[in-house]
Amino acid sequence: MFDEHGFRRDVELDEVALPALYHFVYCSRAADGVDEAEIGRIVESAQRNNLARGITGVLVFGSGVFFQWIEGPATEIQKLIASLHGDPRHYDIVSLSQSEEERERLYPDWDMERVDAEDIRLVLQDALEDAEDKNNVAALTRILEQLDSGQLSSLGRR
Ligand SMILES: Cc1cc2nc3c(=O)[nH]c(=O)nc-3n(C[C@H](O)[C@H](O)[C@H](O)COP(=O)(O)O)c2cc1C
Repeated sequence: MFDEHGFRRDVELDEVALPALYHFVYCSRAADGVDEAEIGRIVESAQRNNLARGITGVLVFGSGVFFQWIEGPATEIQKLIASLHGDPRHYDIVSLSQSEEERERLYPDWDMERVDAEDIRLVLQDALEDAEDKNNVAALTRILEQLDSGQLSSLGRR
C-alpha cells in the first residue's frame, strides 16, 4: 500500500494531499570507543533499515557529538526512536524537535546520509537559536560549554 518513501501506491499522486510526515531531531554523545568503523556500520544498517521503512534523513558527526534528522511515517519513526534510546553507542540524547505535519520531505533522496561537520558547534548553535523548550536550551548550552572547554574533545575525535 505504501512505497519505500511512505507514499500510497494505490492512488495517483496528484489525487492526494501531502502525506503526514513525522520528524524527530536530536543530538547525542558518542560512547567511548565509537570510531570511524563503528559510524560506518551505523550508517550502513541505517540505510538498509530506513529504505525498507520509508525513513529518510541526515546524520552529522563531529567532535564526539551526533546530530540526526529523521523523517517518515509516525509508527516507523516511533519505533526507531525507541531503538535509538536503547543503543549503547550513544548517550545523553537530547530531543530538539518532533512533530507530525503534512509536508514534503526535507531529504527525499537520503535513506541516511552522513554529513561531515567540520565544526558541529555551528549545527548545535543553530539548534539552540531555534530551541524553545527550556530543557533543550539548558542541555544544548551545556553541550556547547563542554565543547568549548575541550571536555568532549577526546570522545570519538577523528
Ligand atoms: C547515532 C545513531 C544513529 C542511528 N540511526 C539509525 C537510523 O537512521 N536508522 C536505523 O535503522 N538505525 C539507526 N541507528 C541504529 C539503531 O539504534 C538500532 O541499532 C537499529 O535500528 C537496530 O536495527 P537492526 O537490529 O536491524 O540493526 C542509529 C544508531 C546511532 C547510535
